[in-house]
Amino acid sequence: MHAPDLLPYADRHVPAAPASDIARAFFATMHKRRSVRMFSREPVAQETIEWLIRTAHSAPSGANKQPWRFVCVQDPATKRRIRIAAEQEEREFYERRANDEWLKDLAPLGTDADKPFLEDAPWLIVAFQLTKCDDGGQVYYLKESVGLACGFLLAAAHHAGLATLTHTPSPMAFLNDILGRPAHERPFLLIPVGYAADDCVVPKAAIARRPLDEVMVIV
Ligand SMILES: Cc1cc2nc3c(=O)[nH]c(=O)nc-3n(C[C@H](O)[C@H](O)[C@H](O)COP(=O)(O)O)c2cc1C
Repeated sequence: MHAPDLLPYADRHVPAAPASDIARAFFATMHKRRSVRMFSREPVAQETIEWLIRTAHSAPSGANKQPWRFVCVQDPATKRRIRIAAEQEEREFYERRANDEWLKDLAPLGTDADKPFLEDAPWLIVAFQLTKCDDGGQVYYLKESVGLACGFLLAAAHHAGLATLTHTPSPMAFLNDILGRPAHERPFLLIPVGYAADDCVVPKAAIARRPLDEVMVIV
């Protein structure tokens, strides 16, 4: 095995204040992110979306295989087709597929099968996971990698003042058909991106977080 080429990590990010201050400030920003289901129709420039995708694409991935594709939909007719197909799956979900516990857990969020945000949001970013590379090569830790990239995407959008929803109208195979994606691309998340509507409300139940000592263990 030959030695890898290495570079000095000279352009690393060095904040201008102590790490705890910067970490707290970032928390204060991220803490205000909410999943939004009421979008304004105000447009968002393609260039902005490109920066969001660049940020997502900077995420770590298993063996740096970058097993993702982000299909960014702004065409109204395509958004309409996606809404119709998603609402069909969601009706099936709410009426038949979801068990009682799931419906009980969703009740405080007030979600239902109607998804007007799929047409209102100026962009729908559909994150696909690649089950193999475009050249046929293997990929590793797919879900972990694409999940991280989507987390970066949500953070970047929020940082830019944009709202997102992490939407999973399962099963999502209709997205391959509508968007003409090949079989090795599997839909992962459907993420509307835009500005929150002026009269946007969010469920109280979405804000609560378990206390830190329940989710953090120091050994
Ligand atoms: C993997 C995943 C799937 C989700 N799917 C949906 C969905 O299909 N529809 C929806 O309205 N919200 C969905 N959500 C949003 C959650 O309901 C939301 O993140 C949670 O209630 C916390 O609210 P917050 O994002 O405002 O903090 C999903 C979130 C995640 C992480």
